[in-house]
Amino acid sequence: MTEWAKAKVLVTGGTRGIGRAVAEQLLNLGAVVTIVGRSANSVEAALRSLGADGKRVFGIARVIDGREEVGIDVAAEASRCMGGLTAVVNAAGGAPVGRALDLDWGIWKHEWDVKFWGYLAMARAAALHLHEGGVIVNILGIAGVDPNPRLASGTTINGALRGLTKILADDLAPRRIRVVAVNPAATETDLLVRMAEQYAVASQVTTEEALRQMRAAAPLGRLPHPEDVAAVVAFLLSDEASMISGSSVDVDGGLRRGPA
Ligand SMILES: NC(=O)c1ccc[n+]([C@@H]2O[C@H](COP(=O)([O-])OP(=O)(O)OC[C@H]3O[C@@H](n4cnc5c(N)ncnc54)[C@H](OP(=O)(O)O)[C@@H]3O)[C@@H](O)[C@H]2O)c1
Repeated sequence: MTEWAKAKVLVTGGTRGIGRAVAEQLLNLGAVVTIVGRSANSVEAALRSLGADGKRVFGIARVIDGREEVGIDVAAEASRCMGGLTAVVNAAGGAPVGRALDLDWGIWKHEWDVKFWGYLAMARAAALHLHEGGVIVNILGIAGVDPNPRLASGTTINGALRGLTKILADDLAPRRIRVVAVNPAATETDLLVRMAEQYAVASQVTTEEALRQMRAAAPLGRLPHPEDVAAVVAFLLSDEASMISGSSVDVDGGLRRGPA
């Protein structure tokens, strides 16, 4: 049985979308949580909406930019706030729409800096704080398994992070620390609207039409909500998932093609 009151979880990207839903779910279960976002304003707004009491939920405003020291500082600050660290959920990142040959070079590099190098920096730093029973959860995306030419950066970054999840799981298994990944399909967050706006420009339709088409593709009649992803993350963090490591779980309502 998971003793959630002893869980001290760092959630990057915890101010909005999937990360925020994870933070809320964990708080409801009784965990202590630290969220990370880019600005003091977004962190404070999220803390207010999560019912910040200065005891169970903390916030760190920091731009994750791929530098190792950011991971080191954030993990140390989270551990200081919570009196330790038992798990990390890496959820800070985006998914710009763009094909490999067209996507702006600066966006390519920025996305890799924030998500690939950011997740790796956070995992390396967290590994210095985690003990037996610790867990690292990486939020990836189905494009990493089912390549999508219209999501060139997300396809490549999430594919690389799948490999990283497996080799980190190998390296940390002797310390009884698990590393797992979650692959959401297009999920009903702010990011989905930004993606729809970009698809709309590329396909010369309205944003509403792009959103309608994305939602119409959902086999189960709706796209995942952030809470659907958060429920799976909470399970993966729990003792009930203690034999799951190095693999990824799709939260896609059956959308992904490729290997079953
Ligand atoms: N939504 C989808 O359709 C979908 C599908 C598959 C995978 N994913 C993946 O799931 C993860 C979360 O996506 P989401 O939909 O929840 O996105 P979102 O609603 O746009 O939220 C992104 C979160 O990440 C934070 N963030 C972004 N860049 C950051 C940076 N450089 N430094 C620190 N924090 C940063 C944001 O904080 P502030 O805004 O407060 O700075 C916010 O909390 C991403 O890795 C994304 O690739 C999303």
